[in-house]
Amino acid sequence: MEWTHDDFTLTDDPDRIDFAALCSLLWGTYWAETRGREVIERSVRRSLSFALLRAGKLAGFARVVTDAATVGYLCDFVIGEAHRGAGLGQWMLTQILAHPDLRGCRIDLFTRDAQEFYKPFGFGPHKFTSMVRYPQREPREESEA
Ligand SMILES: CC(C)(COP(=O)(O)OP(=O)(O)OC[C@H]1O[C@@H](n2cnc3c(N)ncnc32)[C@H](O)[C@@H]1OP(=O)(O)O)[C@@H](O)C(=O)NCCC(=O)NCCS
Repeated sequence: MEWTHDDFTLTDDPDRIDFAALCSLLWGTYWAETRGREVIERSVRRSLSFALLRAGKLAGFARVVTDAATVGYLCDFVIGEAHRGAGLGQWMLTQILAHPDLRGCRIDLFTRDAQEFYKPFGFGPHKFTSMVRYPQREPREESEA
């Protein structure tokens, strides 16, 4: 699927993603700064991934790990620094939550400090206590939220 907003296009087609540009974007975040390129590529292809493009260039990204029926885990949401604060994150999240595969799903996410960004979309505290198990063999991923 594809959506447009001014000069920007949002696509869920992973073949339109420039993976070198995506790595640069994710390596600038607090949660994926040491994630390997192969891991990034595999994660994108195994998720419902959303790329924000401007003139074909990557301007933002998010992905949802989902069964397309009951639950989706929204992660790796990042807008390129040059494009932040212009409403693009809100526009992108609106399209993501309306995606036919996600409309009926509970959406989970974790964030260090962007709670205020998500609240207007109905995100709040989990009803139950969330738990996590970090991978034992890949310590470089352990800092991830
Ligand atoms: C968080 C992020 C995706 C938001 O995208 P954006 O395009 O900059 O956001 P928007 O311009 O659509 O902002 C919409 C609103 O959310 C608020 N907001 C944006 N980023 C925020 C943040 N990090 N924390 C709290 N509020 C935030 C804005 O102030 C704005 O509020 P307003 O309408 O009252 O002015 C983007 O700032 C980003 O990539 N940040 C770095 C990576 C990150 O932290 N991602 C989220 C991981 S959970």
